[in-house]
Amino acid sequence: MKLLEKIFRTHDNSPLRLIRDLLWTILLVNYEILRSIYKWFIPNERKDIRGEVVLITGTGHGIGREMALRFARLGAKVVCVDINPQSNEETYNMITSELGYAFKYVCDVTDRTAVMALAEKVRKDVGDVDILVNNAGIMPCKPFLQQTEQEIRLLMDINVNANMWLIQAFLPAMVERNHGHIVAMSSIAGLMGLQNLVPYCGSKYAVRGIMEALAIELRCEPRDTSGIKFTTVCPYIVNTGLCKKPRIRFQSLMKVVEPEDAADIIVDAVLRDSLEITVPSIFYYAIRFAYRLIPFTAAAIIINFFDSGLEAHDD
Ligand SMILES: NC(=O)c1ccc[n+]([C@@H]2O[C@H](COP(=O)([O-])OP(=O)(O)OC[C@H]3O[C@@H](n4cnc5c(N)ncnc54)[C@H](O)[C@@H]3O)[C@@H](O)[C@H]2O)c1
Repeated sequence: MKLLEKIFRTHDNSPLRLIRDLLWTILLVNYEILRSIYKWFIPNERKDIRGEVVLITGTGHGIGREMALRFARLGAKVVCVDINPQSNEETYNMITSELGYAFKYVCDVTDRTAVMALAEKVRKDVGDVDILVNNAGIMPCKPFLQQTEQEIRLLMDINVNANMWLIQAFLPAMVERNHGHIVAMSSIAGLMGLQNLVPYCGSKYAVRGIMEALAIELRCEPRDTSGIKFTTVCPYIVNTGLCKKPRIRFQSLMKVVEPEDAADIIVDAVLRDSLEITVPSIFYYAIRFAYRLIPFTAAAIIINFFDSGLEAHDD
């Protein structure tokens, strides 16, 4: 694939060259479509992560804690990172009481200097990080005009900028070894706009954009980076307390997901090197192949019909 990209990367637009490139492009696009269909029916085998270093942010609670427990059960060395020392310690104790291998660090992931210092410490104490899970996030939920500058800046710092600081801290060693995996938590709110979540939606669309652009950029690297994988996760409402007032019209169709179930699905997707998933998976097809193909005004009517989302709340 790298070779093909080098072949295409030219300013030679002679007719012969154009015809050749066009034929190659059609062939490769069809190959990739067929490969995706095949992977849909027969996904990758789950990879073995025994002994690998998995760093997760936001391990003190919710999905982050559940993922930490599951990665540890698979034999990984789990590096738990959270701003809250007590809750992070609880997660650490839960892992070690199951005889899992864990390390704990307190870090505010919005502080770039602290993130770089964390990377240095982790490298010395544990080794190079094989799987980075950018999970820490917050979700203020109220009409856009009621969100303060401070709230919006903090949201962007945690949900977006921290992702970039952590990637800048851990990606270089992954590129050096041509081995690694970056996992990011986006959301269904990163696939469609939702009431009361304007900045949050913006932050989760940004996460998807960062992950997509990074994957494209690494493909263009002169050296082989095919050993670095990317997984973007878009969960629906997960019962962690983050979504305080869910409003669901069709409760049996659109069930709130338990954090344990969400973590099972996410860890499985990471082990299979899935590029992008929704939790549950039905939303992936519903949004990609229905919602995105119709005019926005028609999509808005469907959203009204399902009347599913989050009510505003103060804290
Ligand atoms: N819960 C949901 O319904 C849902 C849905 C879609 C996406 N998500 C995303 O999944 C991720 C996890 O969500 P959750 O529901 O488990 O959240 P949660 O509130 O249960 O846990 C978040 C953890 O992040 C930590 N954290 C917050 N700010 C931090 C900071 N500056 N530095 C370090 N740690 C910090 C918190 O202390 C907490 O332990 C988030 O990115 C969220 O946006 C959640």
